[in-house]
Amino acid sequence: MSDTASSATVRKGLEGVVAGETAISDVDGQRCQLIYRGYHIDELAGKATYEEVSHLLLFGALPTRSQLAEWTSQLLAARPLPPPVAALLQSLPANAMPMAALRTVISAMGVYDPDADDDAPEAMRRKALRAIATTTTIAAALGRRLANQSPVPPNPSLSHAANFLYMLHGREPSAEHARALDTYFVLLADHSFNASTFTARTVTGTKSDFYSAISAAIGSLKGPLHGDANRKAMETLEEIGTEANVEPYVQKTLADHKRFMGFGHRVYKGEDPRAKHLKAIAHALAKTSQEPKWFAISEKLQEAVWRAKQLYINVDFYSASLLHYVGIPTGLFTTMFACARMAGWSAHVIEQTADNRLIRPLALYTGPRDLRFVPVDQRS
Ligand code: CMC
Repeated sequence: MSDTASSATVRKGLEGVVAGETAISDVDGQRCQLIYRGYHIDELAGKATYEEVSHLLLFGALPTRSQLAEWTSQLLAARPLPPPVAALLQSLPANAMPMAALRTVISAMGVYDPDADDDAPEAMRRKALRAIATTTTIAAALGRRLANQSPVPPNPSLSHAANFLYMLHGREPSAEHARALDTYFVLLADHSFNASTFTARTVTGTKSDFYSAISAAIGSLKGPLHGDANRKAMETLEEIGTEANVEPYVQKTLADHKRFMGFGHRVYKGEDPRAKHLKAIAHALAKTSQEPKWFAISEKLQEAVWRAKQLYINVDFYSASLLHYVGIPTGLFTTMFACARMAGWSAHVIEQTADNRLIRPLALYTGPRDLRFVPVDQRS
């Protein structure tokens, strides 16, 4: 069959296209709501841990106490990297971009995973567990490489989020910082058919393997219109530097026809439902921080961009100051998004596998037709 479509059917960026069904999460753009398997995000934020939410996304229900104990102990056991993967990570250039390095190392995980090409549900869940557990180990090691420090082994007495901060900083985090990062992970754990998740489902649609889908998703998240917006939002705050510079920055950005990073959304017609939670956490962290100015600049920028262009903030805007306040270097921000989204990506790969159909849209061809072949020495 030839690839044909009429211009009437073209939906650039697939805007408004319903590309499949999912029971994992719902993004309601009109009401600005996010639901994970029936639970409104407001119901989970600050109450459920990432361990509980990853179980919810992967198994369809919040765990009972004994299920949680088992899931948590499996995650703990899966934290260390297979030695050849750890060696590969250390062989990468110290200045490698963390998202490029994460994509490479996760891909290598697939080479050593005994379940790599087994797509039975139990094998898929074992891979999901390993991917969730090891992504934080990889991200922390990459963060330490940015500071020329060697990796710190995981601490089995700490929760998923607290252990990440421990492996990054080499010391146990405060309860406030661990809770803040845990809630960040919960809020970003899934988001329906966003670009990276759809990428993962498209790769899965060819009956490729789990790690190919996840590596492709990481590549998609790396883009500044998607996950890298949190890093760009922090760079914006750093560029602005003082509250007094907010208004001149906004005017210059408008004059240069540039984008405000951490603002706008394809689906939400109002404020991103995750943003208020992230803002409240960033605000609380600012109060005990030596650098309250990042929150103050953020709030001023939010107001100024609203006045100038009526743009709402998205998830990445207050993620920036939150991640900064818990001591994460800006270069590592997008990998934090990947750590959180690993549960959602994995759940979508499993769901796509269970009811698969090749994902293959049409395109409207706009190039020439009926050209005649000209031998190479006769071409001008
Ligand atoms: N700054 C300035 N103008 C904007 C922005 C922004 N952040 N977002 C949208 N607009 C304007 C855009 O210029 C365009 O105006 P006009 O029609 O006059 O040219 C109009 O709004 C529509 O923009 P679009 O790019 O066609 O809309 P979209 O649905 O493709 O945009 C977006 C969604 C997220 C790509 C966009 O809002 C954006 O670039 N935001 C900045 C990057 C960002 O924060 N990304 C994170 C997205 S949420 C988390 C995630 O998925 O990772």
